[in-house]
Amino acid sequence: MLNGKKIVLGVTGGIAAYKAATLCSKLVQKGADVHVIMTASATQFITELTLQTLTRNAVYTDTFDEREPAVVSHINLADLADLVLVAPATANVIAKMAHGMADDMLTTTLLATTAPVMIAPAMNVHMYDHPAVQHNMRLLDERGTLMIEPGEGLLACGYVGKGRLEEPETIVEVVERFFAQQDKAHVPQQDQDWVQSHLYDQVQGEGRTLLLKGKKVIVTAGGTVERIDPVRYITNDSSGKMGFAIAAAARDLGADVKLIMGNTQAQPPVDVKIIPVQSAQEMYEAVSREWEESDIVIKAAAVADYRPKEVYTEKIKKKGDTLSLELVKNIDILETLGKQKTHQFLIGFAAETQSLEMYAREKLKRKNCDLIVANDVSRAGVGFGTDTNAVMIYDRNGLVEELELMSKEDVAHRLLRIAAERIAGRN
Ligand code: PMT
Repeated sequence: MLNGKKIVLGVTGGIAAYKAATLCSKLVQKGADVHVIMTASATQFITELTLQTLTRNAVYTDTFDEREPAVVSHINLADLADLVLVAPATANVIAKMAHGMADDMLTTTLLATTAPVMIAPAMNVHMYDHPAVQHNMRLLDERGTLMIEPGEGLLACGYVGKGRLEEPETIVEVVERFFAQQDKAHVPQQDQDWVQSHLYDQVQGEGRTLLLKGKKVIVTAGGTVERIDPVRYITNDSSGKMGFAIAAAARDLGADVKLIMGNTQAQPPVDVKIIPVQSAQEMYEAVSREWEESDIVIKAAAVADYRPKEVYTEKIKKKGDTLSLELVKNIDILETLGKQKTHQFLIGFAAETQSLEMYAREKLKRKNCDLIVANDVSRAGVGFGTDTNAVMIYDRNGLVEELELMSKEDVAHRLLRIAAERIAGRN
């Protein structure tokens, strides 16, 4: 879709500059002709040679480094561009753009171009929230600069919050769909919505078209607690982070979110309705109450398959050398929902340590899910308790998407986007 598109990529000096390599590589793979301009600070984070090798075009860093006498480089780049993309865009370059400064190769090109300009900001959360940055972004927005919203999560500076450069895969998708909209007279509404949800109409999301607007989304998160006696219980290692990330992403996409939350030490997202539960039975009852009204149900919780047959009302006293507990099977919530499914879009998870695809696809079928998200929880950084995850998303026909190790927030956004596209397709 990017065949022959000339993209001038401005890389500015933040830690996210290292992601410019992946971005270049993916744009080139899609057929784009990428011309990189780096600011002096960007060269502190990634080398010109890396980006030159990936794009097979000269990389520009200095306005006065004129290589061809017949050509003024920044005017040439400004004229040839079908799109100028600045990723990552630091607070500094955003300020320069907002105030029309032109003191280096990138900013002079940005002033000289008549091509559309798209920026993907990346910075510390407090810098991003600073009124000066917000004001500058508003100025750019008023002038028609397109913005790719930064993601939320753990930032390189150690803070957690908004400011992380959107993943290169997503930036490429936004660029592709942006060109598709330009090239075609009629673009499906769902594609237009998708692009809009990634491009700010106004700073801080006001006025964005939200992919899940009006949808009722139920997310389960955390582990269940199966009581043995008043002081002991059976649970598992689920921290709730995966489910929380999904709930937050659904909220950000405009959904009305209810989070059915089991045992967890993590901080649940704000602005979603929280329904605390303990046992699998309680989780089942809570989901059942919301089920009829819901559009999307996502079961990220780790539910105990068995519970103690007897729950002792008094603390069990220490007696012999061994103690046997008899366990009985819990209701399989997902499977039960799958049987009752009418209009709901049902997403299950599969936590496996072997034969990931086989078990996940078997669960998808048996539990009648629309999608199943399989994670190999024996891998480092994957599954229980971590801030990251790597998943394979399957539907009945097989693999839909493989997501390499990335933040749970990014997994959540990608998953919801797939769900939203499929729901839009159904309608
Ligand atoms: O919470 P985190 O620390 O962030 O970790 C995330 C996670 C590893 C918990 C998450 O990514 C995950 O894999 N969740 C599902 C865990 C699980 O119970 O998997 P399972 O393969 O045993 O179950 C398959 C599906 O059936 C799950 O959607 C589960 O919610 C559901 N289930 C299982 C048993 C049961 N009795 N009722 C159910 O609904």
